[in-house]
Amino acid sequence: MAEEEVKQGSENSYGAEEELKPYLVTDPKEMSARIDALRAQGKRIGLVPTMGALHLGHLSLAIASKNECDVTVVSDFVNPTQFAPNEDYDKYPRTLDADLTLLTHIKADYVFAPSPADMYPSGFEANVHVGGVSKVLEGAFRPTHFDGVCTVVLKLFNLVRADVAYFGQKDYQQVCVVRKMVRDLNVPVEIAMKPIIRDRDGVALSSRNQYLSDDERRQARVLNKSLEKAKELIQGGERDSEVVYDAMRQIIETAPSAKIDYLHIGDPESLREMERIAGNVVVLEAVRVGATRLIDNCLIER
Ligand code: PAJ
Repeated sequence: MAEEEVKQGSENSYGAEEELKPYLVTDPKEMSARIDALRAQGKRIGLVPTMGALHLGHLSLAIASKNECDVTVVSDFVNPTQFAPNEDYDKYPRTLDADLTLLTHIKADYVFAPSPADMYPSGFEANVHVGGVSKVLEGAFRPTHFDGVCTVVLKLFNLVRADVAYFGQKDYQQVCVVRKMVRDLNVPVEIAMKPIIRDRDGVALSSRNQYLSDDERRQARVLNKSLEKAKELIQGGERDSEVVYDAMRQIIETAPSAKIDYLHIGDPESLREMERIAGNVVVLEAVRVGATRLIDNCLIER
C-alpha cells in the first residue's frame, strides 16, 4: 500500500475546506492494511461497531471516538450470525448512503462495510462463545445471539486493531459480554461504554423503532417510564426487588400491546439477579410492543 494513499484517507477528516465523505472500505484485507499503516504512524484508533441504519445513538459513539482518538473507523455490517432464523435479518434496514452522509457531517475517517461473503467465506466455521453473562436475559431469549455478536466483534477487533472500541449502554448486556470476551481472551482493546441517547419522549433510539406504528410508538414510552419509576423507588430506599418489579409491571401494563419478556435487577458487572437491592444496580427490561421487541435499561448508582 502506497503511503501517500493512506495519508490521504486520514487527511479526509482534517483541514478539509469542504465536507469530505469518510473513506469507504469494503475489503477486509484492505481495511487491515490501512490499519497497519495508521498504526505505523502512531495513530490512536477508535472503532465503532454498528449494523448501520445510523441514528444519533450511533453517532454519539462516533463523536466520542472523534474526541478521544486520532482516527475513527465506523463498521457498518448487518451481521447475519447474530440473527436467529425467525428474526428480522432480511428486513433489517440497510441505508449505507444515508449512513455515509451522517458520518460525513461528524467527520468520521473510515467506514468499513464488508459483504457477508467476505466476512463469512464458504468454509467458515469458527464460533466465539463466552458463556456466563452471555447465557442469561437476552441470551436466554435468543440463545445463539451473543455467539454471533462475539464472533463478528472479535473479527472486527482483529481487522481494525483499535485502541478503543465504543459501545452503547443501550445494549448493556452486550457490553458485559464483550468485556468478558476481551478479558478472557486477552484481546488488546479498551471497551468504552457511552450513555443511552433517547428521543424527546424518553424512548431510547433504536433502528427497530421504525417497525412501530404511531400507536405502538406512544405505547413504547412505558419502557423508560417504568425505569424512571424503578430509579425513584430504589433511590428512595426500596430494597425489595419484587416491589420494584410490581411497580414497573403496573406501568408497562397500561400499554395494551406490551408484553414483558423480562424485568431484571442485577449486579452491574455479573448481572447476577438481586432479590435484596444493595449497592449499585442495573435495571434491565425487554418488552414486546406488538411484534417489535424493545430493550432498555438504567444504571442506578448509590
Ligand atoms: P447496532 O444495533 O447497530 O448498535 C451499534 C452500537 O450503537 C451498539 O453499541 C449500541 O449499543 C449502540 N446504540 C444503539 N442505540 C443506541 C442509543 N439509543 N444510545 C446509545 N447507543 C446506542 O449492537 C450492534 O449493532 C451489533 O450487535 C454489533 C455490536 C455491531 C455487532 O454486530
